[in-house]
Amino acid sequence: MKTVYHLNLTDELIQGAQFAFLPGDPFRVEAIARAFDPESRELAYKREYRTFIGRIKGIPVLVTSTGIGGPSAGIAIDELAQLGVRNFLRIGTTGAIHEDINVGDVIITTASVRLDGTSAHYAPIEYPAVSAYEMVHALVQAGISTGIKTHTGITASCDTFYPGQERYDSYSGYVPRRFQGITEEWRKLHVLNYEMESSTVLTLCSALGLKGGCVTGVVVNRSLSEEVTPEGLKTGEENAIKVGIRAMEMLVRNKSGH
Ligand code: URA
Repeated sequence: MKTVYHLNLTDELIQGAQFAFLPGDPFRVEAIARAFDPESRELAYKREYRTFIGRIKGIPVLVTSTGIGGPSAGIAIDELAQLGVRNFLRIGTTGAIHEDINVGDVIITTASVRLDGTSAHYAPIEYPAVSAYEMVHALVQAGISTGIKTHTGITASCDTFYPGQERYDSYSGYVPRRFQGITEEWRKLHVLNYEMESSTVLTLCSALGLKGGCVTGVVVNRSLSEEVTPEGLKTGEENAIKVGIRAMEMLVRNKSGH
């Protein structure tokens, strides 16, 4: 029996699961799992890593929280891969940086700007953080079939919520020079949004020969406001989960031949 340390899981416990949702927040794990399988159940909860297992069309699917940022997401992916998981779909929240992207819309990341540190421990910085084509395709189809507005494109994926995302409402209020004006530069380069895990998820998955994807719900539009409201958070989270689950249903169906 294979055991992994941080996730507190074994290969027996995950029942041959090859698909996993990766939310950041342990509290979101149960909501995602119950939304695709009301009989899903908890397998483990250690530190930021909480795992549920459920079934889609009879196929086991995991939901494992990664915590915030690259280092903890990297451990989750590596340990799940050690147990046999091969397909990883991050479901998270994001801040949009274009005026025409609304709170509640969903962003499908095709590739990420690697502003994290963890991905460079798996592949050199020239290596792309790119989503698996199958993931992007399924997510786009899921957006159409759920009727939820999606935007497809490049994400800036950052180790910090405050300076790296050019937030001046931090404790010190200071943003180091290398990040001053960076949001406008990303906007000019057609980067859609900021979040904190996709560069790690996508780089590791490509580098390790796994399939990775990322779908995030917009909880704030940084062009218009810095405030994340409870309603914005709720709609962003719910819409990303709906699109993510519909996409996973397609991915599982394609893989299983059902
Ligand atoms: N997550 C982020 O990393 N940034 C945001 O602005 C919102 C969610």
